[in-house]
Amino acid sequence: MSIIAPSLLASNFLKLKEECDMLNASSADWLHLDVMDGRFVPNISFGLPVIEHIRTATKKPLDVHLMIVEPEKYIVDFKNAGADHITVHYEVCNHLHRNIEQIKNLGLKAGVALNPHTPVSLLEDILADVDIVLLMSVNPGFGGQKFIPNTIDKIRSLKKMIHQINSKTLIEIDGGVTLENAAALLHTGANVLVAGNTVFKSENPVDTIAKLKAAY
Ligand code: DX5
Ligand code: ZN
Repeated sequence: MSIIAPSLLASNFLKLKEECDMLNASSADWLHLDVMDGRFVPNISFGLPVIEHIRTATKKPLDVHLMIVEPEKYIVDFKNAGADHITVHYEVCNHLHRNIEQIKNLGLKAGVALNPHTPVSLLEDILADVDIVLLMSVNPGFGGQKFIPNTIDKIRSLKKMIHQINSKTLIEIDGGVTLENAAALLHTGANVLVAGNTVFKSENPVDTIAKLKAAY
C-alpha cells in the first residue's frame, strides 16, 4: 500500500486551515512539511510557529523535511512543534548516526534525505537504523520542478540494499511526482510519494490525492 504525503509548500499559506481541512477529508496519509533555511538550499520557507499551528489542525502524521544546516540544534524544537517524522539531509550531517539516534530517542521516526547527486551506496552502514530514506528527485529548494529520471535507478539500487538486510525502511520520493510517473515509482520500489504542485494546483485536490493513492 502506497503512502501519499502532500507537500504544503505548494498550498495557499493564507488558507492553511482550509488546506488542512481538505487534507483531513482526503486519503492523504501524511502531511509533508518542507523547512528551508536559505543556507543549505537557496530558499526560505517556513518554520516552527507555522508547524505548531498545522499541528492543531490535523491528526495526520507530520512528515518534517529539514533542508537546513546543523539540524541537530533544532530536533527537539521540531518534536515539540508536533513533528512525527524528522528527515535530515545526509549532506549536512557530519555525525549522521548520532543525529538519527537523537531523533529516534525522542520517539519519532527518523529519515535521511539524499540530494540527486548523492549515491545511495553511502547509506550502507546506516540503513538498518533508518526508518525512511527520502530520495530527492529534484534539487531541493523549490516546488514545481521537473522529475530527474536517474531517480528510478536510485530507487532500484536502494530497494536491493533494503532487501539484503531485510529491513522495513521506507523509500520516499520527493520532487516532480505526477499522476503520470506515480505508478512507475511505486512499481520500482517507492513506498511514499510526496506531491506538492500535483495536488495543490489541481482542480480537485482530494480527487488527485485519491488518484495518486490508487496508482500502481
Ligand atoms: C523541494 C521539496 C519538495 C517540494 C515538492 O525542495 O522538498 O517537498 O515541495 O514539490 P513538487 O511536488 O511540486 O515538486
Ligand atoms: Zn520535501
